[in-house]
Amino acid sequence: MIKTLALYSSVDGQTKRICQRIGEHIKTDHDVTLIDIYNATAVDLANYEKVILGGSVRYGKHRPEFEHFLIEQETLLSTKKTLLFSVNATARKTNKCLPSNNPYFIKLKHKTGIHADIEAVFAGKLHLANNSIFDRFMIKLIFKMSGEQIGNGEIQFTDWGQVDRIATEFQQL
Ligand SMILES: Cc1cc2nc3c(=O)[nH]c(=O)nc-3n(C[C@H](O)[C@H](O)[C@H](O)COP(=O)(O)O)c2cc1C
Repeated sequence: MIKTLALYSSVDGQTKRICQRIGEHIKTDHDVTLIDIYNATAVDLANYEKVILGGSVRYGKHRPEFEHFLIEQETLLSTKKTLLFSVNATARKTNKCLPSNNPYFIKLKHKTGIHADIEAVFAGKLHLANNSIFDRFMIKLIFKMSGEQIGNGEIQFTDWGQVDRIATEFQQL
């Protein structure tokens, strides 16, 4: 079994769910430990052969804890087999769904200097009924600006087939 760490930075749980799905997909030959970025200080990367790093975007940014971890652990991470992915709503657009054209992913790489063996961008999920009035207003406004109208119900943008394909790629690393 290949010792694998899946470290996630997630506010509403979608990035965690994507990590869980990847973990489930590769469990026949990978022993996956799932950890929230907030508990990352207790993690010894030396114990793992492969590392999955996933972070979501809120108001244009990945969480600082996620970025700091990537910066601080860059040298050690470069000795592992890695998958780095970002989860955001912008990735629902066909011209912003790749690591090479998703603005948040490009910014993350530029800011942290990280390079991963596999890089991916996944469209996330919105469920505005669970968000504050302010957040609901802001998200609706942002969507309106790109000519789309959304309600408070759950909108699943994540392509789980894409998640599975990336998981297979990671499994074969
Ligand atoms: C308050 C709020 C702000 C968000 N800001 C952005 C944003 O700036 N750009 C973007 O592409 N997606 C944005 N999103 C969409 C999230 O990235 C998406 O919902 C993702 O699934 C969240 O992942 P998480 O549940 O792991 O935190 C935002 C969502 C919320 C609720």
